[in-house]
Amino acid sequence: MERLQKSILLPLILTASLPGLGFCYSITKGPDNATVLAGSQARFNCTVSAGWKILIWLSNGNPVLTVLSSQGSVETTERFTSQNYTSGDEFTSELIIHNTQLSDSGKIECSIQQPSENNFAFLSVQVNGSLFIKNSTLTVHENKTVEIVCEALGWAPAPDISWMTNDSFIDKSRYVNQQSQGSNGLHNVLSILTVTPTATEVLTCLADIEALPEPQNATVTLIFDNSTAENDYIEDTRSSWVIVLAVVLSFLGVVLLIIVIVVVVRCCLKRRAATYQSEIRKVSSEKKKDGNLENRQRNGSENLGYLPEELWNTEQSPGIASLPPMSSKFSDPEDYSYISAVPKVQPQRHSDYQIRPKKIRNVTLV
Ligand SMILES: *[C@@H]1O[C@H](CO)[C@@H](O)[C@H](O)[C@H]1NC(C)=O
Ligand SMILES: *[C@@H]1O[C@H](CO)[C@@H](O)[C@H](O)[C@H]1NC(C)=O
Ligand SMILES: *[C@@H]1O[C@H](CO)[C@@H](O)[C@H](O)[C@H]1NC(C)=O
Ligand SMILES: *[C@@H]1O[C@H](CO)[C@@H](O)[C@H](O)[C@H]1NC(C)=O
Ligand SMILES: *[C@@H]1O[C@H](CO)[C@@H](O)[C@H](O)[C@H]1NC(C)=O
Ligand SMILES: *[C@@H]1O[C@H](CO)[C@@H](O)[C@H](O)[C@H]1NC(C)=O
Ligand SMILES: *[C@@H]1O[C@H](CO)[C@@H](O)[C@H](O)[C@H]1NC(C)=O
Ligand SMILES: *[C@@H]1O[C@H](CO)[C@@H](O)[C@H](O)[C@H]1NC(C)=O
Repeated sequence: MERLQKSILLPLILTASLPGLGFCYSITKGPDNATVLAGSQARFNCTVSAGWKILIWLSNGNPVLTVLSSQGSVETTERFTSQNYTSGDEFTSELIIHNTQLSDSGKIECSIQQPSENNFAFLSVQVNGSLFIKNSTLTVHENKTVEIVCEALGWAPAPDISWMTNDSFIDKSRYVNQQSQGSNGLHNVLSILTVTPTATEVLTCLADIEALPEPQNATVTLIFDNSTAENDYIEDTRSSWVIVLAVVLSFLGVVLLIIVIVVVVRCCLKRRAATYQSEIRKVSSEKKKDGNLENRQRNGSENLGYLPEELWNTEQSPGIASLPPMSSKFSDPEDYSYISAVPKVQPQRHSDYQIRPKKIRNVTLV
């Protein structure tokens, strides 16, 4: 009985222990490189031969998901899940990375805790940015060269920009692409195309990154206008009308100014002619008065009838040299005291008084 048992157990133990040695299973197909748009899923397959015990997925060196042959997959993060496929005696674990982010880019590794080749691949997460040409239509005159700017903003990596006119690609020498670093590791590209249209054409700016199934595009319609001369003419006449109007208006302004000046000058001349005569009269009357004053001063006696210049001017009849009634003139006691006091206290000022009346008189006359 013991012999029989041993003869039965031996092959059982042998078959059971063979896979445990670890030399008989391996990765038959590792993951493949993948390029995806940010936010979408990324999937990787790892196929192992029968006898595997453990399969670990690593993203940039960090374990993200483990599959045990006995228990199935052990998922600890929502973003990393897996699907299992079995074909014959081969097992395939498919890692699914959900809502991919730029930071997921890098090495994706499938480990079976055995030395193995071809067990890694690279994930490239790309960002589909925006693309636009500011003008959707442009009218270009004959022989005129225009620069069309196509802007690609917020891409990862920087997209390849190319141009098409109608259905054919434009030679690279006709445009310049300028790359610049945007925020959050994104890239911007400015492409400037120089064209001298000879006919109406539709220009398309194309931005391509690997993850896009089709390049993103932006278009501009160049409307060729070979009636440039007419347009220029219209613009010219318009602008010349403005100039003519401005000239006419300013001319009218100048004429008005001249008229006003002439009128004013003529009025002044008339007034001056009129006042000249009255001035002559005044001068003559003044001489008489000066004589009176001198007489009075020589007498030395205080003349209460003397009129101060200010009051005299308010009379507005300089031609009349006769003395007005004293009662009305010296009703104000201050005036009286002023007139009577000044000649006494400052007799040397008599000459000033003789000049002052002339000055004040001029002011009231003009
Ligand atoms: C996978 O990507 C890496 C890095 O981008 C590259 O070196 C390698 O050649 C790629 N492998 C295949 C099979 O395309
Ligand atoms: C992984 O393998 C399964 C089964 O063969 C297949 O359906 C799936 O498309 C594969 N996934 C990838 C990313 O190749
Ligand atoms: C890329 O972005 C453009 C503009 O936002 C959009 O129209 C296009 O559908 C996007 N492409 C993909 C593949 O998501
Ligand atoms: C169109 O282009 C002209 C110059 O060619 C520019 O002055 C104008 O601002 C552009 N219009 C828009 C909407 O960008
Ligand atoms: C455009 O250029 C051509 C050749 O240089 C010339 O014959 C034509 O008169 C030009 N047209 C205008 C509108 O300037
Ligand atoms: C481009 O297409 C427009 C109509 O879509 C046509 O009028 C024009 O002649 C074409 N231009 C060229 C250069 O083929
Ligand atoms: C531009 O993109 C639209 C879809 O967004 C597509 O239908 C069209 O064919 C593209 N044009 C070119 C010239 O690739
Ligand atoms: C403008 O071009 C059209 C054809 O594109 C032609 O028939 C027409 O005579 C041209 N006009 C002038 C003023 O050159």
